[in-house]
Amino acid sequence: MFVILCRMFQFIFNFVARLLPWRKAIPVEGPGSTEKIPELLGEQKVKRPLLVTDQGLVRAGIAGRVIEVLDKAAIPCVVFSDVEPNPSVNTVNAIQRMYFSEGCDGFIALGGGSSMDAAKGAAARVVRPRKSINQLSGLFKVLKRLPPFIAIPTTAGTGSETTVAALITDTETHHKHAILDLCLIPRYAILDPELTRGLPQSITAATGMDALTHAVEAYLCWTYNTRESIRFALDAVTMIFSNLEKAYADGNDIAARQAMLFASYRAGFAFTRSSVGNIHAIAHAMGGLYNTPHGLANAVILPKVLEDYGKKVHAKLARLAEAAGLVSGTDTKTAAEKARVFIDTIYAMNGRMGIPKGFDCIRSEDIPQMIKWAGKESNPLYPVPLIYNKERFRRVIESLRLSGK
Ligand SMILES: [Fe+2]
Repeated sequence: MFVILCRMFQFIFNFVARLLPWRKAIPVEGPGSTEKIPELLGEQKVKRPLLVTDQGLVRAGIAGRVIEVLDKAAIPCVVFSDVEPNPSVNTVNAIQRMYFSEGCDGFIALGGGSSMDAAKGAAARVVRPRKSINQLSGLFKVLKRLPPFIAIPTTAGTGSETTVAALITDTETHHKHAILDLCLIPRYAILDPELTRGLPQSITAATGMDALTHAVEAYLCWTYNTRESIRFALDAVTMIFSNLEKAYADGNDIAARQAMLFASYRAGFAFTRSSVGNIHAIAHAMGGLYNTPHGLANAVILPKVLEDYGKKVHAKLARLAEAAGLVSGTDTKTAAEKARVFIDTIYAMNGRMGIPKGFDCIRSEDIPQMIKWAGKESNPLYPVPLIYNKERFRRVIESLRLSGK
């Protein structure tokens, strides 16, 4: 009965979603595209942007490069550089206060998913100052145009530069709030591979696997897909299989870095239209409870859930395996065998990039909470190929544990 109710919700939501005014962030691509920020700000009449970033990017000199571009164009910018991984409600509120107290009129979000999500959350609170993050959490609670917003990803993974989502953690309850609204899609996405050149290998790997998870979950979705989101998901999977390990092996491989930024953007669009699924729901629960980096959690959970889905996804995984060039279309293998190749290749990639097979942080007493959060996030909204009940979530979460605690 529960499954039927979920599917009915998704059927109706799909109908409504097709009437919504979807858009993408306008991509500004290529090495050195950061130089175009002043022109984009001018177009949007922004005179005093708030640059939202983190200390790592300040230390790496990447924030400085953006500030230099603005300085050259005589654009005074205010900087908030204290975004933490899995950004908190307090951080978002501090950014919103800074925006008002400094008289800012637009956002530049520079960083991985954390900086972009924190800036999106703050921008939502700028236009809805009387609503808390808790009140903005959920679907279509903002419903108001945000200030001009330029997103500059410095990792190739989250896709936040073109998504409807901002994930904000409540540090008291450890719960991750997902604010989901079309107005959260940034106006511009600057995809400059020069900014991802110095990324550590572990971050290249984890964020790249996050992008792969977006593309795969979007492709496996039961009902929200469009022709464009399917094409974007397929493109992203193909690009990631061809380029992620190149970028991991040689951080200065600009062509691979650029391809990964394209893939991440495309996967971001695919999942913002078609939604993610149970893999993300479990990863978010892990992020909230243990601060597990989002991409790392997805990388580990992705092949486990694909295995668990079984024959429900064999045909689609077989097509992804063909698109990624892992098997040929004329291969005599069955769909199940091709799906197996796809899953085994993910395990092998994880292994080559130093991603663990599981986690030793998951405590038995936390599992009911993880099941509750993951279930609440997935059902009924996510059009997953297989609706998980509590037992199914428990089984997959148990399979992620490296040792009993
Ligand atoms: Fe993700």
